[in-house]
Amino acid sequence: MNISPEHPLFFCSPTRLIVQAGGLQRIAPFCKQRGWKTAVIVTDRFFSEQTSWIQSLKQALEESGLRAVLCDLGAANPTTVLCDQASQSVLSELGDTPADGLIALGGGSNIDLAKGLSLTLAHRRPISDFIGHTNWPGRPLPLIAMPTTSGTGSEVTAGAIFIQPGSATKVAVMGNDLRPLMSVVDPELTLSCPPRVTADAGMDAITHAIESWITMNAKDFGAVNELDPAYSGRNPLTVMFARESVRIGFEHLLTAFREPNNLNARTGMCYCSLYAALSYASSGLHAVHGLAYALAGITDETHGRTNAVFLPYVMDHLATVRTAELAEIGKIAGSRKPDPIGQARDAAALTRDLIAELGMPTDLKGFGIREHQLDQIIRDGLNVSRLAKAFPIQPPNAAYAEIVRNAYHGTLSVPRQFGGADPRTASQQ
Ligand SMILES: NC(=O)c1ccc[n+]([C@@H]2O[C@H](COP(=O)([O-])OP(=O)(O)OC[C@H]3O[C@@H](n4cnc5c(N)ncnc54)[C@H](O)[C@@H]3O)[C@@H](O)[C@H]2O)c1
Repeated sequence: MNISPEHPLFFCSPTRLIVQAGGLQRIAPFCKQRGWKTAVIVTDRFFSEQTSWIQSLKQALEESGLRAVLCDLGAANPTTVLCDQASQSVLSELGDTPADGLIALGGGSNIDLAKGLSLTLAHRRPISDFIGHTNWPGRPLPLIAMPTTSGTGSEVTAGAIFIQPGSATKVAVMGNDLRPLMSVVDPELTLSCPPRVTADAGMDAITHAIESWITMNAKDFGAVNELDPAYSGRNPLTVMFARESVRIGFEHLLTAFREPNNLNARTGMCYCSLYAALSYASSGLHAVHGLAYALAGITDETHGRTNAVFLPYVMDHLATVRTAELAEIGKIAGSRKPDPIGQARDAAALTRDLIAELGMPTDLKGFGIREHQLDQIIRDGLNVSRLAKAFPIQPPNAAYAEIVRNAYHGTLSVPRQFGGADPRTASQQ
């Protein structure tokens, strides 16, 4: 993407970002320096019971003169009900003393729960009062995030995602004030991620990078005149982060998956995830995430898997619209085709090969989806209108329908590697 007066740039990132092995040690002195008296630690029971990290953090906070209140009610894919229950529990423990801030430790689920709590604790209202608008009664409490997966990038994003009972898709609380005050990314905290979590999170990160690289331009996004846009289309700065994220992700994900203790690969995936988030957290996403939310509503499958299954089919659909970008991705992924359109189509096929190597389903049948459910996925995906309106082809209806049908049948322009031509060698045949 060229720098030009035509392309406006909106970029919002958290105030402080630290990537450092052993970064956990920095939290307590920082809270003390901010003048915090009471901090709420938000995590789940895996971390409070099976690692020493929460105990060390609590002790360091207390030695720094802070009161540390532990909330380890986190769970994968938090619901609005869980957020309200956790809020009640923390409020009753806090009593009359308000919290000064929160510290989240965990994957995207725990960080999102903490973001929700940063609003509900500050304003003593249920989380549903904050969904779908930014007309909040005031700011959230400040949040320090420590991710333990390399995937969601929630440590820099403006959103928190919840399952809301009764809604067909996940819902979002979103606003620039929700971005953490500080994020400490410590690769050592990801070493204990089991391969399945590594694969899910890693594909989430690669999806963020690719989807944000090929999204709508900022000038066409419609946020140009918004006072404080959170997601506002791609611009030269977001594209710079996306490109680097894709390169690092293709280099390190399989190694991190196969060799969990490989700190070099884990560090690579921390950067992949972070750079992807620094791209999508300003540019926004579109069809892959919209359809993934619809699929998750039916299957309860993880965020990484539901994204991964749609990613190659969205890339393939956009091969003639975002040819230059996808050709670059194709070359990063190993395409040897001589022409940009061939490379762009290989990008989709090689991404699907990577997903297969990570042991994930590569079509909707792999999730047990039946043909009669496709219309519901298309409809629910389109209904996530903040994402549908950012799809580079407008209106997106026909494209969404074709993508979902291709994802069901496993149809790409380049046939499957197993049983079809290997795109890495096809050009030489
Ligand atoms: N806010 C955002 O911007 C944003 C973006 C994308 C996704 N999300 C949300 O994030 C959630 C997914 O987050 P995730 O992929 O990070 O997974 P997760 O937080 O749901 O964690 C998955 C499982 O892995 C475990 N785990 C996490 N880190 C571990 C570690 N280091 N060692 C051992 N076990 C570990 C957790 O305890 C949990 O059981 C979804 O709810 C999704 O909707 C949010």
